[in-house]
Amino acid sequence: MTEAARTPYDPADEVPMDHTVGRDLFSKFDPLINERQALLDTGVRDPFALVMEKVHSPTLATINAKKTILLGTYNYMGMTFDPDVIAAGKRALDEYGSGTTGSRVLNGTYQGHKECEEALKEFYGTRHAMVFSTGYQANLGLMSTIAGKEDYIILDADSHASIYDGCALGNAQIVRFRHNSVEDLEKRLRRLPPEGGRLVVLEGVYSMLGDIAPLKEMVAVAKAAGAMIVVDEAHGMGFFGKHGRGVFEEAGVEDDIDFVVGTFSKSVGTVGGFVVSNHPKFDVMRLVCRPYVFTASLPPSVVATAATSIRKLMHAGNKRGHLWENSRRLHLGLRELGFTLATPEAQSAIIAVLLPDQNTTVRMWQALLEQGVYVNMARPPATPAGMYLLRCSLCADHTDEQVGQILGMFEAAGRATGCIA
Ligand SMILES: Cc1ncc(COP(=O)(O)O)c(C=O)c1O
Repeated sequence: MTEAARTPYDPADEVPMDHTVGRDLFSKFDPLINERQALLDTGVRDPFALVMEKVHSPTLATINAKKTILLGTYNYMGMTFDPDVIAAGKRALDEYGSGTTGSRVLNGTYQGHKECEEALKEFYGTRHAMVFSTGYQANLGLMSTIAGKEDYIILDADSHASIYDGCALGNAQIVRFRHNSVEDLEKRLRRLPPEGGRLVVLEGVYSMLGDIAPLKEMVAVAKAAGAMIVVDEAHGMGFFGKHGRGVFEEAGVEDDIDFVVGTFSKSVGTVGGFVVSNHPKFDVMRLVCRPYVFTASLPPSVVATAATSIRKLMHAGNKRGHLWENSRRLHLGLRELGFTLATPEAQSAIIAVLLPDQNTTVRMWQALLEQGVYVNMARPPATPAGMYLLRCSLCADHTDEQVGQILGMFEAAGRATGCIA
């Protein structure tokens, strides 16, 4: 019996609330609230409160009643409006209902979840695949579960928030190395005590700057130090490597990677996350991984769209080629216009335009929107300290004409705001 059940409730026992003690728990956010208000007071729109009024295609939406080219989505392969994907989702909605109302380990594993995991195993050529409700949860689950108190997680300083949060949820010792520095990774690994397991966490593409990791060198260093390796291919899946598996495939290190983490919210075009692996004991994760066990599974329509999309991505060579053409053309064009870009050449489908401060970045973002193109504005903590940027992400469905229009809009907005001469 609980304590509450033993002791009947008596209103006279209540201690009156003293409103003069304690502090408003929101007061710590005052600097951020004031900074935001000061920015909005200059007359710009809030870049983090935009509404897509209608979405017409992977590359076109209505925003502020204006048809706008989308250059700030993760829809790299343009799968969101694929007719086969949509038909699969509709069918599953009709046949299985709108949601599972349960965890994967209880009533929440439907035929569609298994089919989605089969599609992933085929796509990655692995023995195991585990579907999570988001990519965020996949990282949260993997990091917090496989590395324990005596183990070390060695991660790139620019790792995604979900990787950091997974580390915070678990008990492992955390060691950071300088972004994309093979030397620093090697140095940190050398300093570790010999006891304890080691997990090196890398990303194929780093999503803020669009730069790729030197995976060949990093994997060699990590393996020499006896570490297991995770690579997050959230932004590489679909268009890197012969089969579109990601940067690790292109780098030829598939056999040395222990876990690949990914998401359905980018190239796959829906929502969800996954981990694939060949480790013989991997399936025990289904019993011990809290972000897998203690949450509801994805709706049947979502896993049906994901499975269909993943299977189509296996044969998307033409789309992949066009995405790379778009990315290279935009990078070259923006550089020629005089913008400062985060990478010397197009390394992925993300082209980041660096700007000097928040105010200039928001003014440029708004000028682009008024021209008719939407990009992502990014600021710390999503970006490294002091870095403000406009992130352009290309889609395989952007037409040559649209890329030309985008460059024209950047030129006009850049001149109007003084960002380029
Ligand atoms: C590198 C990386 N990993 C994981 C995630 C999380 O993916 P999801 O949107 O499925 O939660 C993201 C999302 O932006 C990401 O950029």
